[in-house]
Amino acid sequence: MTIAVVTGAGGALGRAIALRLAADGHSLALTDVAAEPLARTVEEVRAAGAKATGTVADLRDAGAIDAFFAAAREELGPVGVLVNNAAIYPTTPFLDVELAEYDEVHAVNQRGYWRCAQLAARQMAGTGEGAIVNIASITMHGGWERLASYVATKGAAVSLTRALARELGPLGIRVNAVSPGAFPTAAEEIHEDPAAYSAQVIERQSLKRRGTAAELAAVVSFLTGPDSSFVTGQTVEVNGGWVMT
Ligand SMILES: NC(=O)c1ccc[n+]([C@@H]2O[C@H](COP(=O)([O-])OP(=O)(O)OC[C@H]3O[C@@H](n4cnc5c(N)ncnc54)[C@H](O)[C@@H]3O)[C@@H](O)[C@H]2O)c1
Repeated sequence: MTIAVVTGAGGALGRAIALRLAADGHSLALTDVAAEPLARTVEEVRAAGAKATGTVADLRDAGAIDAFFAAAREELGPVGVLVNNAAIYPTTPFLDVELAEYDEVHAVNQRGYWRCAQLAARQMAGTGEGAIVNIASITMHGGWERLASYVATKGAAVSLTRALARELGPLGIRVNAVSPGAFPTAAEEIHEDPAAYSAQVIERQSLKRRGTAAELAAVVSFLTGPDSSFVTGQTVEVNGGWVMT
C-alpha cells in the first residue's frame, strides 16, 4: 500500500485522479484550498473503500504545506506518490496584468509544485522509491491569449519534471508530467460561450468527442503504477489528438 498525495483534489480532474488512485490500492492524503469540494472528494474516496485524509491548505502558504506533508506522514506513512494538480488560471489581457496576479499564479502553479515535489521526494528518498506526476497543459504548446502567467507555469512544470527526473532517478524516484488537452471542467467557465468552445475543441481534436476526467486519471494511474517502472522525465499528452508532439 502506498500513500498518494493529490493537490487540488476538490477540482474535477483532482477528484477523478484521487478516485482512480484509490481504486489502484493507494491510501489518499488529499488537499485543496476549497473545503467543500475537498470534503466531497474525501467522502467519495472513502465510499470507494480507500483510506483518505482531507486537509484544507493554501499552496501559497509554505507553513500550511509543510504541516500537511508532516501530518500525512504521521497519519498514513511516507508518501509514495505525488500528483501536483492544483492550479489557478485568471484570464487577463497581458498588457493589464498586475504583478500581484502574476505572483499569485506562480506561487500556486509553480512554487507550489516545486515545494510539494521537494517535500514528497524527501519522504520518498527514505524508502528508495516514489512517483511524481506534474499536471501541465496543452496551452504550453500553442500559447493562449489572456493566460500568459498560467501558460508560463505550465511550461515550467515540464522543465521541472525533467530536472527532477534527472536528479531524483538515482534515488528511485520517477518524475513525469501529464499534459491535458481540454476537459469539460470548471476551468471551461473562463470561456464566454462554453458550448461554442466545446464545439471548437472537438473540431480541433482528431477524436471527435470530449475527453473525460477518468481518461486523464487513467494516464496518471499508469505513470504512478508498476507498468511505467522504466519511464521517467516524460510528458504524456492526453488531448484526443489536438496537439501531436
Ligand atoms: N480542465 C482542463 O481542461 C485542463 C486543461 C489543461 C490543464 N488542466 C490542468 O489540470 C489541473 C486541474 O484542473 P481542473 O480542470 O480540475 O481545475 P479546477 O479549477 O476544477 O481544479 C483546481 C483545484 O485547485 C484548487 N486550488 C486553487 N488554488 C489553490 C491554492 N492556492 N492552494 C490549493 N489549492 C488550490 C482549486 O480549489 C481547485 O479545486 C490544473 O493543473 C489545470 O491547469 C486542466
